[in-house]
Amino acid sequence: MTIRVIIDCDPGVDDAIALLLAFASPELDILGITTVAGNVPLRLTQSNARKICELAGRQVPVYAGCPRPLVRSLETAEYVHGATGLQGATLPDPQLPLQPQHAVDYLVETLMQTDEPVTIATLGPLTNLAVAIVKEPRIVEKIDRLVLMGGAAGAGNVTASAEFNIYVDPHAAHVVFTSGVALTMIGLDVTHQVLTTEARLEAIRSIDTPVAQAAAGMLKFYGEYDRQQFGMSDSPLHDPCVIAYLLQPDLFTVKSLPVAIELASPQSIGRTIVGHSIDEQKNRVDVAQSANSDAFYQLLTTRLATL
Ligand code: BDR
Ligand code: CA
Repeated sequence: MTIRVIIDCDPGVDDAIALLLAFASPELDILGITTVAGNVPLRLTQSNARKICELAGRQVPVYAGCPRPLVRSLETAEYVHGATGLQGATLPDPQLPLQPQHAVDYLVETLMQTDEPVTIATLGPLTNLAVAIVKEPRIVEKIDRLVLMGGAAGAGNVTASAEFNIYVDPHAAHVVFTSGVALTMIGLDVTHQVLTTEARLEAIRSIDTPVAQAAAGMLKFYGEYDRQQFGMSDSPLHDPCVIAYLLQPDLFTVKSLPVAIELASPQSIGRTIVGHSIDEQKNRVDVAQSANSDAFYQLLTTRLATL
């Protein structure tokens, strides 16, 4: 059985690797790709998504969504992903046209019209999905499950408290986390277990196809930030964990826990508060706890080799 999925993303190096893994996976029927401002501004995330489609030879419709968060000003992460958002790969300007419809309208229309389950995978700030839920709350019942990369029970990465995707648009995250949607949160607690070691990078590089060379080039650049900023010898690979979870959920362990988003404190805005709450039954989320990183890289490497 194929999984019908819409991928919302802000490419972004690790978003790009996630898209490539999805393209290489026949289990997934990718209905569309929606893009949002995040790692780089929207004009780059939408064109980067189209570049990755073309790199993989796939004609998936790409939609541009919200150019900024709901309340806060946009904060981007060129310091991690480079000025283009896909630093480390040299890709031509895309020929694949951008769809004229706004990503939020595409989400609402597609979900309201479907009689079959649709999974949503989000790899960036949750602005598009939050606006879609505000515009048409009935879409929540149409979403089979939302699997998102974001948050952390432990330390953040953009501040001590907050993970980037939630920090960039915490108000959108609050809308989504309190919407009642069935949600799996893959946060830093797990993605920091999934490290691109030199041996794993070399395994991708040695595939020696244009796709693998581009992936290896981006991953090499991407690793530098974590090495320099956090003194890590190997860098975490966040967004592809969402796609791997769709393909092989048994690579991960999850636990149902209440999660709230910090919106008030300037020091910890965007923190995902995981665990105890006054009402333990409210806003429960499947929070990923651990990942089998060897099996994850095996999956990623063998799938990339098929593109
Ligand atoms: C998340 O932030 C972005 O920089 C990455 O693409 C990933 O989605 C990790 O915190
Ligand atoms: Ca991302």
